[in-house]
Amino acid sequence: GGAGSGGSGEPAAGDEYDLVEAGTLTVCSDIPYAPFEFEGGDNGTGYTGFDIDLLDAIAKELDLKLAVQDVGFDALQSGTTLAAGTCDVGASAMTINDERKANIDFSDPYVDSMQSLLVRTDSGIKSIDDLSGKNVGVQQGTTGESYATENAKGAELVQYPSDGELWPAMQAGQIDAILQDQPVNYVHEQADSAYKIVETYATDESYGFAFAKGEKDALIEAVNTALQDLRDDGTYQEIFDKYLAV
Ligand code: ARG
Repeated sequence: GGAGSGGSGEPAAGDEYDLVEAGTLTVCSDIPYAPFEFEGGDNGTGYTGFDIDLLDAIAKELDLKLAVQDVGFDALQSGTTLAAGTCDVGASAMTINDERKANIDFSDPYVDSMQSLLVRTDSGIKSIDDLSGKNVGVQQGTTGESYATENAKGAELVQYPSDGELWPAMQAGQIDAILQDQPVNYVHEQADSAYKIVETYATDESYGFAFAKGEKDALIEAVNTALQDLRDDGTYQEIFDKYLAV
């Protein structure tokens, strides 16, 4: 606990951040989305991954405990879940973009990413130009969905609320391809040699932690400071190496 916690009548750590639950950083995330958020680990929340471990380290810097709630991505990225006060922060490999900034405040960027196309190794699909008439799976509300809508001409887009349904649909042969974030398709490729990434797209995406618009300025500043401290002391690199080094 910090200087302010524990004493009688003294404010708990994090009081200045107007937290959903005193002394706790409550995180909303859409799970599974390995390597960023998935079940497991030993931090007491039941979840782990790059985003979760990074936020756990940030919470420690702020003298807060970590709690994680598994929520749907679409309402998280639209700002609805955050505006409802369900959580203090959204951590969901969420790309920072102008459309979302209308409804969400973002932390500083914490990782770079891009889109990619995953197909069956024996499918004969070599590029996005081979998708005409094919079923292409995307997660609803994602930048992968937008990219496919704009670039996969003639493809039949099939939207799934979660990667937890998208990947099983691929393995069951219900879709011919998945268009989504490269690090996530990479995990699927590594897990099953029947699938491979045939193309990546330099969409120049950066992920940010997401906050209810206009309501969390003090918390955002503290998170950004903690993030910089964790970059400076090597903790960020350790977490990066654990989940994202190839
Ligand atoms: N980066 C993409 C986006 O922001 C996909 C994020 C999906 N995240 C998740 N945890 N399911 O749209």
